[in-house]
Amino acid sequence: MTEAILLVGGKGTRLRPLTVHTPKPMVPAAGVPFLTHQLARARAAGVDHIVLATSYLAEVFEPYFGDGSALGLHIEYVTEVEPLGTGGAIRNVASRLRSAPGDPVLIFNGDILTGLDIPALVRTHETTGADVSLHLTRVTDPRAYGLVPTDATGRVTAFLEKPQTPEEIVTDQINAGAYVFRRSVIDTIPEGRPVSVERETFPELLATGAHLQGMVDSTYWLDLGTPQAFVRGSADLVLGRAPSPAVPGRCGDRLVLPTARVAPDAKLTGGTVVGADAYVGEGARITGSTILPGAVVEPGAIVTDSLVGARARIGERTVLTDAVIGDGAVVGPDNELRQGVRVWCDAHIPASSLRFSSDQ
Ligand code: GTP
Repeated sequence: MTEAILLVGGKGTRLRPLTVHTPKPMVPAAGVPFLTHQLARARAAGVDHIVLATSYLAEVFEPYFGDGSALGLHIEYVTEVEPLGTGGAIRNVASRLRSAPGDPVLIFNGDILTGLDIPALVRTHETTGADVSLHLTRVTDPRAYGLVPTDATGRVTAFLEKPQTPEEIVTDQINAGAYVFRRSVIDTIPEGRPVSVERETFPELLATGAHLQGMVDSTYWLDLGTPQAFVRGSADLVLGRAPSPAVPGRCGDRLVLPTARVAPDAKLTGGTVVGADAYVGEGARITGSTILPGAVVEPGAIVTDSLVGARARIGERTVLTDAVIGDGAVVGPDNELRQGVRVWCDAHIPASSLRFSSDQ
């Protein structure tokens, strides 16, 4: 297999240009734009041609990844005029594929961080002769996901909407957002209108007797749809729990980009990333957090499991836990922000303005 389609479009909520909403695909995770990890993993699995299917903010990708040669890839970009949904986006790029009709084509969602064994998914596809093979992952609470039950041989038996009652939870397997399609199957997706693979393409393929094969792989898997998940994913990349050949440096407790400055007695742990040109002052303690480029964490601040946006400033002794600080925001000294709080981009919180009480 040498070709892949990477889906990075959609109605926009996932890609809005604000750190406080949801991470956009170019936000650095472990020091490089998040998509780099997926592209590098595909390359390591033998893919050399990738079509990036997008519908929004398309212009941010090409200036950075160019023709892909820096990653050993040939990357093409296709932008939808209106978002076509996952299936529509796949169909929309079919003409760019070079594979023969029987060849396997890898397709993956742009907002997932995974340690999927891509060659194993391709082998499963080839040995079972499936039309489409899907990576399935198991989750402890399947209520938020569409479910994908399989039979004893791994063949998919249904695509079920999010379960509403306990009886409807017939499996803990969910679609993990990576597929291998036989090239010719892509041409059966209707052209020129929005199509969802999960709600339309896959159920229709099943109804017409196609062979959809599930491969349950319980490797690292994280949906990066929220800033908190993004911070977790970035830390896991640094810690080496999420495997990626694109992490710039050795895996360990922290990753400090070369142009960042960290005071000698600052303590960085839990997969913390300090981005380019960022600064961490004396005595600051940062755990499991992502400090984006150009941000400043002043002396004595304590930052845990948080995202500090590009060029944001965290004042002395301020405590952040599970917080998301938008790009350019300023949180003055001696504040305490916890439990999912989000500070808007460029907002300004004066010194000693906020403390946290759970009222317990
Ligand atoms: P549908 O299956 O189309 O209903 O999308 P979904 O809501 O189930 O998909 P989700 O939002 O989980 O997105 C899965 C991946 O597909 C993400 O990486 C999205 O960026 C990408 N994606 C979703 N919709 C579109 C789209 O309209 N165009 C493109 N190019 N990518 C999309």
